[in-house]
Amino acid sequence: MTQPVLPLEPATAGARNFLARSPKQLLIGGTWVSASSGRSFATVDPANGRHLADLAEGTSADVDAAVSAARAAFEGSAWRDMAPSLRGRLLWRIADTIDAHADELAELETLDQGKPLKTSRFAEIPAAAEQFRFYAGFANKILGTTIPTSITHQPAGRQIFAYTTREPVGVVAAITPWNSPLVMAAMKLAPALAAGCAVVLKPAEETSLTAIRLGELMIDAGLPPGVVNIVTGFGAGAGAALTRHARIDKVAFTGSTAVGKLIVTAAQGNLKKVTLELGGKSPVIILGDADLRLTVPGVARGIFNNSGQVCVAGSRVYAHRSIAAAVVDGLAAQAAALRLGHGLDPGADLGPLINRRQADRVAGYVTEAVAAGVEVVSGGRQTGALGTFYEPTVVTRVREDMRLMREEVFGPVVAVTAFDEPEEALAFANDSPYGLAASVWTDNLSAAHRLAARIHAGTVWINCHSYFSPELPKGGHKQSGWGYENGAQGLENYLETKTVCALI
Ligand code: NAI
Ligand code: MG
Repeated sequence: MTQPVLPLEPATAGARNFLARSPKQLLIGGTWVSASSGRSFATVDPANGRHLADLAEGTSADVDAAVSAARAAFEGSAWRDMAPSLRGRLLWRIADTIDAHADELAELETLDQGKPLKTSRFAEIPAAAEQFRFYAGFANKILGTTIPTSITHQPAGRQIFAYTTREPVGVVAAITPWNSPLVMAAMKLAPALAAGCAVVLKPAEETSLTAIRLGELMIDAGLPPGVVNIVTGFGAGAGAALTRHARIDKVAFTGSTAVGKLIVTAAQGNLKKVTLELGGKSPVIILGDADLRLTVPGVARGIFNNSGQVCVAGSRVYAHRSIAAAVVDGLAAQAAALRLGHGLDPGADLGPLINRRQADRVAGYVTEAVAAGVEVVSGGRQTGALGTFYEPTVVTRVREDMRLMREEVFGPVVAVTAFDEPEEALAFANDSPYGLAASVWTDNLSAAHRLAARIHAGTVWINCHSYFSPELPKGGHKQSGWGYENGAQGLENYLETKTVCALI
């Protein structure tokens, strides 16, 4: 199943030239600069360990400089006074430039993150462009209201005139994870820019390359200096400095629930606004009448895509007892057919996990569960020259109280449990601190919508899983997060309301 991990080269001159321009610097106030400490760190190809580039290690001094640049840009006339339609056109141009560089960006994403090129090229890079296109249309549709009031104590002959305006929240810290790097950055940048905010972006230390390239492309597209600043570096360094910074007005974060909680604490100092897109433990409920020809491949994609490194990955499958064995066999067959390999190898269906630590973590969950009696039906092995690959894995005979069933594994591991009554499946599904997403598989329309109403999750899919579009709000209930990205709601994260009440 495991393919040899060749030192595959990018085919585009753009990606080769970009990688040759190392070390990478920080983008502050429209200029690329080295970290104030002079320090850098390496980003590597997780499939084979190949060194890709050195990145500037931003620390709190660099964060201070980036926040000052963002604040100056936020208050400066080039951005503040840009006509809304021109802001919209700028976002559209950014989308076009992402599309025009999609081959190059896809190769960089695949090299840095590991995912198959077909995923980068045909799903994620286009999805990043679509974020900018979607929010481009909002830039000149951010409207206030006029409000008739019930105030009765105005002096004779005078009246009340009241209205609201919407204002950008200010300087935003956008902190992104490594699983889908460019699209995660776009999901924050596009609405923030449509709203008129300025941003300091801190991409994940494992996967900063496409964010840096996007920084170059946004400047070429005409973004005024300082409107987007990029500080690469580590979570405990640059990331933490941003979240406690007194002149950051808002943090938009995607990542682990543990770091989400740290950010809530760090935000206390100036009560900055916070939105959090956190982890999940998404249940998949398969009723007895489900069409397994649709269900089995759909459920397999919902857990194995991106090697399970997906916040909404459907890791807990509850299948009606009448079809549970067929679901297990079907998922095992799907898992066995997936080929592991380097993301640039056209034959690869699944790439590596992001690093050895993550692969060890995934393996640790499975090993612990096996010791407690869980049966591995397919997969279950850590492979690859560096031990960064993990086979797509199907397990059964789990108990609901196992760590495997309660914590976010973030790897290609799915557990199948049989149930007898839909109420039982619902109880299993909702027995989790997380509430990010779920899917229900059935031809029974009423049962599907009744279950959808009672599942505690921000998104419920019916007969599909991991279907996204910029129009569809996405967010977590319970400990899966605060707030929603995408859709009109995604814009709200970056806006304040001001009420003006006048006696005229
Ligand atoms: P993480 O939450 O540490 O990393 C996400 C981002 O947060 C990165 O940019 C990182 O530099 C930054 N960060 C880390 N510590 C920070 C701090 N104290 N203050 C501000 N920013 C900080 O995730 P990690 O450690 O890379 O992965 C561990 C686990 O987290 C995964 O196994 C997975 O379960 C979960 N995770 C979930 C994601 C999701 O989309 N739901 C994405 C990434 C990780
Ligand atoms: Mg890397």
